[in-house]
Amino acid sequence: MTLWGGRFAGGLDPLAARFNASLAVDQRLWDVDIRGSVAWSRALARAGVLTDAECQALCSGLMQVWAEFNAGRFVFAPGDEDIHTAVERRLSEIAGPVGGKLHTGRSRNDQVATDFRLWLMEALAHLQQRLATLQSALLNQAEAHFGLIMPGYTHLQRAQPVLFSHWLLSHFWPLERDRERLGQTAGRAATLPLGSGALAGTGFPIDREALARDLGFARISPNSIDGVADRDFAAEFLFAAALLGTHLSRVAEALIIFASAEFGFVEMSDAFAAGSSLMPQKKNPDMLELARGKAGTLLGLLAGLMATLKGLPSAYDKDLQEDKQAVFTAFDTLDVMLPVVAGTVSTMRIDQDKIRAALDTGSLATDLAEYLVRQGVPFRETHGIAGRAVRRALEMGVDLSALPAEEWAALAPGLDISPAEVFDFGQSVGRRAVPGGTAPEAVQAQLALARNLLISRQI
Ligand code: ARG
Repeated sequence: MTLWGGRFAGGLDPLAARFNASLAVDQRLWDVDIRGSVAWSRALARAGVLTDAECQALCSGLMQVWAEFNAGRFVFAPGDEDIHTAVERRLSEIAGPVGGKLHTGRSRNDQVATDFRLWLMEALAHLQQRLATLQSALLNQAEAHFGLIMPGYTHLQRAQPVLFSHWLLSHFWPLERDRERLGQTAGRAATLPLGSGALAGTGFPIDREALARDLGFARISPNSIDGVADRDFAAEFLFAAALLGTHLSRVAEALIIFASAEFGFVEMSDAFAAGSSLMPQKKNPDMLELARGKAGTLLGLLAGLMATLKGLPSAYDKDLQEDKQAVFTAFDTLDVMLPVVAGTVSTMRIDQDKIRAALDTGSLATDLAEYLVRQGVPFRETHGIAGRAVRRALEMGVDLSALPAEEWAALAPGLDISPAEVFDFGQSVGRRAVPGGTAPEAVQAQLALARNLLISRQI
């Protein structure tokens, strides 16, 4: 059975049928498709198009189809072109000729757009939960290692000391924006296209607002042509997924570097690492490398769908059938990637000694310059003095903090230099007490803010 055979004298070429079919991809829409059809039956009854008895027959038939899918007992027929065809075909087998009334006033164009939005709205809520788990893995580590000072990097060169917790939280906040973005995407996806028909609007007096409420949509689409064509929600999700992937790839890359023997800051637990088939000693951060790599795949999915959407004339075009593969792939990728990265983060061992040992007083040159500023010298000058001190220390082969007193006297005549006060990592961090800074009290406030966000989300 096809849903459109009447006008055609001959059957579809077998390869063309295979090319046309989307069942392999869209069968996972079975649940939302059936729920959409139940709501549509009720809307038809409310509009006086179906009798109550017909609506009853359709709904109980649809429940039975639902139960078959739910139990994994549903059997697809060779002619099932897509999930919509399969559900309607089975409904008619169960309910008899009344099954043929389900599609009254509806098109697969508004049906698939409705199904897909509904699926995405629920998928987004699920991903938000997955994200929260990763955020809490980062936050737990940040709370557990509060007080630990690490070298902060820019250009991957030691820059200034920061709290390890501060660094961890620098990866919490991008994920918080991602979580927000997923919620906003869901909010915009909650526009009901059903009732748009093929493109012109259904020919029956359907109460679309009531239909929207029934299905959990926030509003109805204001234009039926746009209603069947709009895939902004899919593109927005793919963007949100690609950016989330990008954020994950950044935290992954940092941890991959930190896990190298050269850094040795962290070690992945055996549960989230892999070995080499040739080199017995290897412990590779494969999960993080996969996260980094899959970020590229996610970006490709966004670029692919945008290219598909670009230049489509108005209303439905079959090109749009390509939307689901991209969205499902992005969802499936994140659905596994988020908990795996969360597991990697929550089980990694942090070597506090190695992290402390990586601190060097060269990264306090800024503190030296700022110390002199407090004695009234313009920063441009103190920057020069501190820079020359660094060069002198390098020439002498000593630590910046170990420059002899006569060197200081020559570098900054008449100024009071007290290396002990300047060259203290704890004091350096402690001075950055501005909100958002790395001082313990500022990070404490940040930790509390992050914790409150995670708690409020659970309610
Ligand atoms: N399988 C189709 C899709 O996913 C359903 C809509 C078909 N509409 C049509 N006019 N052929 O887009």
